[in-house]
Amino acid sequence: MRLPKVPLPALSLPAVSLSALPLPGFDRLPFSSSSPSPADTHRRVLVTGGASGLGLALATAFLERGDRVIVTDLAPTDARPDTVPDDARYLRLDVRSEDEWQAVRAEVEAIWGGLDVLVNNAGIAQGGRIEMLTEDDWRQIVDINLLGVARGCRTFVPMLKAQGSGRIVNTASLAGLVHPPTMSSYTAVKAAVVAISESLRWELEPFGVDVSVVCPSFFRTNLASSLNSSDPAASGFASKLIDRSERGATEIAAEVMTGLDAGRFLILPDPEARRSYRGKRLLPAAYEKTMTEMGRKFARATRE
Ligand SMILES: NC(=O)c1ccc[n+]([C@@H]2O[C@H](COP(=O)([O-])OP(=O)(O)OC[C@H]3O[C@@H](n4cnc5c(N)ncnc54)[C@H](O)[C@@H]3O)[C@@H](O)[C@H]2O)c1
Repeated sequence: MRLPKVPLPALSLPAVSLSALPLPGFDRLPFSSSSPSPADTHRRVLVTGGASGLGLALATAFLERGDRVIVTDLAPTDARPDTVPDDARYLRLDVRSEDEWQAVRAEVEAIWGGLDVLVNNAGIAQGGRIEMLTEDDWRQIVDINLLGVARGCRTFVPMLKAQGSGRIVNTASLAGLVHPPTMSSYTAVKAAVVAISESLRWELEPFGVDVSVVCPSFFRTNLASSLNSSDPAASGFASKLIDRSERGATEIAAEVMTGLDAGRFLILPDPEARRSYRGKRLLPAAYEKTMTEMGRKFARATRE
């Protein structure tokens, strides 16, 4: 996770970077693969939260490969967002709604008779110190970022099992593997998405269905606009991390496609994510020092 190298003006937040951990070359080591997945074309692909950011970049990348894509998002089906590529179909799907999931499954069945890749990508951001996040904040992020993924898997797994093929791609986050201060609700649901993905990996392997989980560090999208205001200081911190990132969604999507081509389970699509995750596992003392420093600096900056 790439953290700011300069103090943030409003809060004087920490100049701490996990990517500063001394891990030369660690980002180039390979991660374990599940089954190899050659770059098939004409796959039938469904992407949630596909009208913006990473979902849109992934939908575009699949289309460029010659795959067929249904983009889903919050706008009504007859008010297709301008961002959605012309050669994709568009359907409304609020991932909080069981009924809408069932309607989309029926549509996929009617149009294609099956599905090859389900991308559970829709999500919101949330930052906040634990005592400032409200019960409603927790319910909202659990409903979208965690249950949204669970509903997608529950809806489409019977179809994929019956086919004996397919891949589920869940967008988690580096925050699901590395858990910095002041974002406990976000790290909790993203860690849960990593856990669901691993359970399903072993559960669905006997049925010929593969699973991948995508864990990027921060990258520039519209995600910051979904941040709540229960804790403006922590939300502002998260917002700056997103907006100041070097990378955009297209670069992340390209790395995700490479990971999918290799049949990778855990896809860490940027060097910060790879370094931070390996730093936590292989250099725990340095990791703890960095996190402690980050927590202390945030506390100092926000103390009245
Ligand atoms: N941008 C980052 O720094 C970053 C880092 C790690 C992980 N992620 C994850 O990537 C995924 C995509 O986020 P993004 O950065 O592209 O943000 P984004 O805001 O650009 O895109 C998210 C999309 O999800 C849609 N969405 C929100 N709530 C929805 C709901 N209830 N039902 C259906 N769609 C809904 C939005 O309308 C939007 O189109 C999210 O799961 C996010 O947590 C983002």
